[in-house]
Amino acid sequence: MASLLFLTALSLLSHSSIAAPAPVSSGTPNTTTRSCVDLALSLPIKANNSIYDIPRVDNNIDAVDFVWDLDHWSAPNATERIRGPKPVDQTFTISAQLCVPQAPNAEKADILQIATHGFGFDKRYWDAGLQPEKYSYVDAALAAGYSILTYDRLGVGSSDKPDAYEIVQVPVQVEILAAIAGLARRGTLATQAKAKASFTVPTFTKTVLVGHSFGSGLTISMLAHYPHLVDGAVATGLIPNTQVGAAGQRAFGLEYAAASNPSRFHDRGSGYLVQGTVSALQQVFFKKGFFEPRVLEYADSIKETGTAGEFVSFGSALERPAGGYRGPILFALAEYDFGTCLGDCKGTYDVSEIRRGLFPGAADVGVHVQPGSGHTLTLHGNATGHYEAVFAYLREWGL
Ligand SMILES: *[C@@H]1O[C@H](CO)[C@@H](O)[C@H](O)[C@H]1NC(C)=O
Ligand SMILES: *[C@@H]1O[C@H](CO)[C@@H](O)[C@H](O)[C@H]1NC(C)=O
Ligand SMILES: *[C@@H]1O[C@H](CO)[C@@H](O)[C@H](O)[C@H]1NC(C)=O
Ligand SMILES: *[C@@H]1O[C@H](CO)[C@@H](O)[C@H](O)[C@H]1NC(C)=O
Repeated sequence: MASLLFLTALSLLSHSSIAAPAPVSSGTPNTTTRSCVDLALSLPIKANNSIYDIPRVDNNIDAVDFVWDLDHWSAPNATERIRGPKPVDQTFTISAQLCVPQAPNAEKADILQIATHGFGFDKRYWDAGLQPEKYSYVDAALAAGYSILTYDRLGVGSSDKPDAYEIVQVPVQVEILAAIAGLARRGTLATQAKAKASFTVPTFTKTVLVGHSFGSGLTISMLAHYPHLVDGAVATGLIPNTQVGAAGQRAFGLEYAAASNPSRFHDRGSGYLVQGTVSALQQVFFKKGFFEPRVLEYADSIKETGTAGEFVSFGSALERPAGGYRGPILFALAEYDFGTCLGDCKGTYDVSEIRRGLFPGAADVGVHVQPGSGHTLTLHGNATGHYEAVFAYLREWGL
């Protein structure tokens, strides 16, 4: 497989809301009936990060050279760059949104989906504000009867933005996901949400993890470390295959975030990277013919950062087999994924090898290839087809 790879305190600072009924016309967000609460989760985290030998990024010239440093053919790999352990023991504030379905669609309200976005976005990856009835995964999950929690990963959106080299790495992100799943499993999440919400919050009895891209890597790593916290998993936009990593860092068009867009990213320090142009987003995220140009502009308007530590530690997410995981996992891929499949997912993966190498105890390892989509599956024209395929798989496995 190696060749394939490259809570104590829960505070709810903000409000719950049920939007008042509003007229819904085509193109207007459907605000009729959503029961959602914004949460600021305070999570004590212990994780085993590493100190990597990578260059600092403090301006755009550094950013381009960072990509050179990782991508030149004779570059050392991530493991060879490790200079020592970096134990982390810190409390982080993570911004989350919990939404629960309402009758008559609430038959699966006790199943909580926890969705982890990938590089380049925040939790809005799952909840587009542009034509939500066409693009919002959150709306689709609610309509299918699931409860769903989305969150800004450490380093983006309204979550904390600590050191980009030694703190914001895969192991810390996996522990954060595990901490959230732990809150759900212990009932703490529901208890605390009930205290704030103006709607009925169900007791969550099952957990389904859903990831996108880098967030799928975190989801898979979570299954390896905390299999007992998860009943089902969906990895979108990522599969261990012959092309993972082939596009390299150079495909992203990275700039130093604070210099690239000072008004938006003034709160990002050294080592925070962002895609510089709309065309850079198109390169890795979109396939012509299957998206509306205004959706590409929308993606640019909500684009987010990633860290040097995340880029170098990404491969470690897929290294450890999830031998203890007994549930089903679906890989839901985009037909024309550039980053994951170098533009064409057909024939790049071997399901039996994935099962043998990573999920020997899983109830099932499934693959769905979503036709007519680039990497950002939630922002292509047939996003709802992608969602239906995901929900059909979960239903098939009793979730
Ligand atoms: C708006 O959302 C509600 C609740 O999910 C749904 O019943 C209704 O059909 C939606 N309306 C439109 C126009 O999508
Ligand atoms: C970190 O490593 C130590 C020592 O190997 C181990 O005991 C501990 O469980 C690890 N912590 C995590 C969160 O993986
Ligand atoms: C990194 O290189 C070492 C050899 O120096 C090799 O043993 C190891 O498998 C490589 N790691 C990966 C993830 O390719
Ligand atoms: C939309 O996606 C679904 C699920 O993958 C697929 O069955 C359907 O053919 C797609 N529709 C179009 C027009 O591509």
